[in-house]
Amino acid sequence: MWQKPSPVWYGRCWVTDTGKLSRLQRYERLLEISRDLASTLDLDSLLKRIVQAAADLSNAEAASILLYDQSNEQLYFQAASNLDEPAMRGLVVPVESSIAGWIVTRREAVIIPDVSQDPRHFGQVDQSTHVQTRSLLGVPLITKDKVLGVLEAINKREDQFTQEDLELLNILGAQAAVAIENTRLFQQSDLISDMVHELRTPLASLNAAIFLLQHPGATQEQRDRVIRTMSNEINRLAEMATSFLDLAKLESGRMPFQHDRVNLRQLLEESGLLVRSTLQEKQQSLEMTLPEDMPIIAADSDKIKQVIINLLSNAHKYTPEGGVIRLNAGYEKDCVWFSVADNGPGIPERYLPRLFEKFFRVPGSEKSAAGTGLGLSICKRIVETHRGRIEVNSRENEGTTFTVYLPR
Ligand SMILES: Nc1ncnc2c1ncn2[C@@H]1O[C@H](COP(=O)(O)OP(=O)(O)OP(=O)(O)O)[C@@H](O)[C@H]1O
Ligand SMILES: [Mg+2]
Repeated sequence: MWQKPSPVWYGRCWVTDTGKLSRLQRYERLLEISRDLASTLDLDSLLKRIVQAAADLSNAEAASILLYDQSNEQLYFQAASNLDEPAMRGLVVPVESSIAGWIVTRREAVIIPDVSQDPRHFGQVDQSTHVQTRSLLGVPLITKDKVLGVLEAINKREDQFTQEDLELLNILGAQAAVAIENTRLFQQSDLISDMVHELRTPLASLNAAIFLLQHPGATQEQRDRVIRTMSNEINRLAEMATSFLDLAKLESGRMPFQHDRVNLRQLLEESGLLVRSTLQEKQQSLEMTLPEDMPIIAADSDKIKQVIINLLSNAHKYTPEGGVIRLNAGYEKDCVWFSVADNGPGIPERYLPRLFEKFFRVPGSEKSAAGTGLGLSICKRIVETHRGRIEVNSRENEGTTFTVYLPR
């Protein structure tokens, strides 16, 4: 462990140096970056954006990120801007004898105007990258009390790193830490392996279809049928991709939620209109009982609509021709609720606990309708993000009712 840190210059702002960008421009840039950071779940491209932003914001020649591996207490380079990345990648830096290690251990940002005078500098990095570090600004990447690594900017162009550089990098570092943690959580989730697993079936059937099309003996009728199958499978893949992306964003907490003033009655009526023609295809009727005086709630209007449409679409898909679908709503002291009920086949009780699981479909459902089994998981996520809850009631051969409760 690092014992006695040598005197450090903590970046008192001796020199006013705003670099190439004006102060306002730098804060604008920072805002832009934070929006940017929310738009990717790919760790490599995320880190790349962060180091680029760090170099720009602090007007430095280069910037890099070292990630901290708690299991073996080591730091290793993971991304760099303007530096020979292959040479750096994976390069291990000892925690006890490096500036980055000092930052991680102390959880403090630091400005070092002259690295050559600092005993903590780990010279091997310069040898590997053929870049001489003259000055350095480093901030720890901390989220929820956990140190994820260090963000370093090196060699300030023209002058010295300032207190303002340090503050900007601290803000960037805090945002970066959250983004890194999110992508990691996302990568660790079962979602990816589940998804890949689900992709195999449509891909295998596309493969088989191509094989059939290539068969010289196939009749025109057979070919037409195969092409229809292919088209269905491709549509299913496209739907899956959309649902998958929605769910991934919801799960990682990266889908922004709006705070609209929502009139639930109006939203239910609009959704009813949207599905009307689809319902007619199966001669199904829609009956709405909505109170006139529904209280206004704060919610994300588009996402609540997505929930309503998902539930209506299920009622439509799984209820036979001529069925009746009912849309009801009401309110209590502290919540509003709406329900979508059908008089379809119902769901066997033993499957009810699994209904909101990702990719779960009641066995045999594929015969009545196509689907990815993600719709209800998405509904549940959206409702829970609103601090509400979704419930299902179903009886075999009688019908199914989904009820959503949202706080007022
Ligand atoms: N109203 C309903 N009546 C009977 N079964 C239903 C009903 N709603 C859902 N289910 C069952 O629950 C399963 C999961 O529903 P979910 O909406 O999550 O997926 P899906 O409809 O199969 O696909 P998609 O992702 O396209 O919505 C369905 O496959 C179906 O078996
Ligand atoms: Mg569905």
